[in-house]
Amino acid sequence: MCGIIGCAGRDGETLDVLVHGLSKLEYRGYDSAGVALAGSDLDVCKTAGEIDELRAALEERSPSGSVGIGHTRWSTHGPPTDENAHPHLDCNREVAVVHNGIIENYQELRDELSTAGHEFRSDTDTEVVPHLIEDALADGADPEDAVRQAVARLEGSYAVCVVMSGVDRIFAARNDSPLVLGVDGEARSASESASGDEPRAAYYLASDVPAFRDHTDRVVYLADGEFAVVDADGYRVTTLDGEPVEKTEDTVDWDPEETGKSGYDHFMLKEIHEQPRALRQCFRGRVDELSGTVDLADLGDLSPRGVQLVACGTSYHAAVYAAQLFQQAGIPAQAFLASEYATSPPPIGDALVIGVTQSGETADTLSALREARRRGARTLAVTNTVGSTVARECDHAMYIRAGPEIGVAATKTFSSQIAALNLLSLAITSVGDSREVISGLRDLPGAVQEILDTSTAQEIAETYRDAESYFFIGRGLHYPVALEGALKMKEITYKHAEGFAAGELKHGPLALVTSDTPVFAVVTGDDEQATKTVGNVKEVEARDAPVVAVTDGASDVERYADHVLEVPDTHRRVAAVVANVQLQLVAYHTADMLGRSIDKPRNLAKSVTVE
Ligand code: AGP
Repeated sequence: MCGIIGCAGRDGETLDVLVHGLSKLEYRGYDSAGVALAGSDLDVCKTAGEIDELRAALEERSPSGSVGIGHTRWSTHGPPTDENAHPHLDCNREVAVVHNGIIENYQELRDELSTAGHEFRSDTDTEVVPHLIEDALADGADPEDAVRQAVARLEGSYAVCVVMSGVDRIFAARNDSPLVLGVDGEARSASESASGDEPRAAYYLASDVPAFRDHTDRVVYLADGEFAVVDADGYRVTTLDGEPVEKTEDTVDWDPEETGKSGYDHFMLKEIHEQPRALRQCFRGRVDELSGTVDLADLGDLSPRGVQLVACGTSYHAAVYAAQLFQQAGIPAQAFLASEYATSPPPIGDALVIGVTQSGETADTLSALREARRRGARTLAVTNTVGSTVARECDHAMYIRAGPEIGVAATKTFSSQIAALNLLSLAITSVGDSREVISGLRDLPGAVQEILDTSTAQEIAETYRDAESYFFIGRGLHYPVALEGALKMKEITYKHAEGFAAGELKHGPLALVTSDTPVFAVVTGDDEQATKTVGNVKEVEARDAPVVAVTDGASDVERYADHVLEVPDTHRRVAAVVANVQLQLVAYHTADMLGRSIDKPRNLAKSVTVE
């Protein structure tokens, strides 16, 4: 939800670094973008639209400066217009600010500043910040103190970066919104030492590592309440009050190439194809097949008497799936929509509260976890993002290791979340057939690869691309996959799609089923559940609905289906994940044929940092 980049120490290249960084962050928001470069002057260019619009605007100008900041926006206050694009400026156009988050007391500040004579040019909450800095400067504060004083007045969530005319530094602060420093100090080579040349050093600030990962893998995660000053000579981190803070450097363990499309037309398709590798990474070093055990010793002793999972969107579907895994292993478990959790919080007792979130920054999920902690719960983050807010705030963190996911539609992280939660359920419960489950998990990447190699999803997409409405049904572990299949479809095709528990269809939704509504039925295995779902398939077939069975062929669902999307035979705890890959491909190809903006669907953003 909005992307920030800042750069110091790349003299002559600052603008290129900023625009490249923004292109890597565009998945966080893409309705307007802008940059500000500071040297002896302050040069700002911003425009509504995607980064290409900014590039076009920059062709007519060439802002220069030794430090700079950039922003790509997902609107919260005010529509996507040139005026509402960041950076925002003070009255004198000498202070430029980019901001992620929401300033909750902005109206009060804006009224106060307007009364004092400040003129506002945008509808945003952000614009109060440069005007507050302007006031502090006018009162005699030096640039750093002026920013500190302004930030101290803000209530709400923010990651802010500030540059000023005539100041070759970037000032940054965070509260409840991610901000990370990139450190790129090259060691002197022998020839540089001999020649006396200075080694090159550059420093970056960003809302997310992909923004500068092409330049460095060394990162420093800023924490809430911290304030950073960055220039070509280095960085300094303090509290907002100025107390020095010792920071440690981390190294990111994924390759810059992982943030490129690697020849695929879309990130989403690339990420669908990355699933076998992502799953192997998730299992690496955690599974001992010989003994049939899972080693998650780094999480410590969890031994919960119950589990509550909180999550949103696709991650919620993974949570619904996982709740069933825990229940089957004898642990009371329930999945909650994070945005609803605080409304009527369940008794916690000795439950472990697990936040499932790819980004680790989803405001609703963070808020639910904070509520759980406030009520005394132990919390565990299951996330893809090292250094994320959720990983820092929870008592424990388990990484799903899927690698960066850029497409707004979550794909590989869903599979990896379920894989990780499968491991977790094995580690903290006594699943009778753990050796068999582990062997099923081992087969999972290969089964996904088989689908990627043989899927006929494109033909199904071609057949039903003009349908106005799609239904997805499944039972048990297939139910969250039905929900996920529908979410993918609506998110990237903009078509109506609904996922149902197969048994619920006859309690109402069946009224909507006609010969124009394709029904995707997810059925694997041949147990009692599968037999019941086949019964539900017969009910829709009797209403002339076209049926696409996503199946391993174990049941006789194919007899009642118009089409079959085949799923290899896999362990029942992972079969639905494999089936889901077929649904990902159907949604992808349908959206592609309809010419949709697959990686950046309208109105959405990858990481939703507002409640
Ligand atoms: C799904 O394709 C979406 N990207 C969305 O539902 C997402 O899963 C949700 O916003 C939660 O995000 P998180 O996993 O980063 O918390």
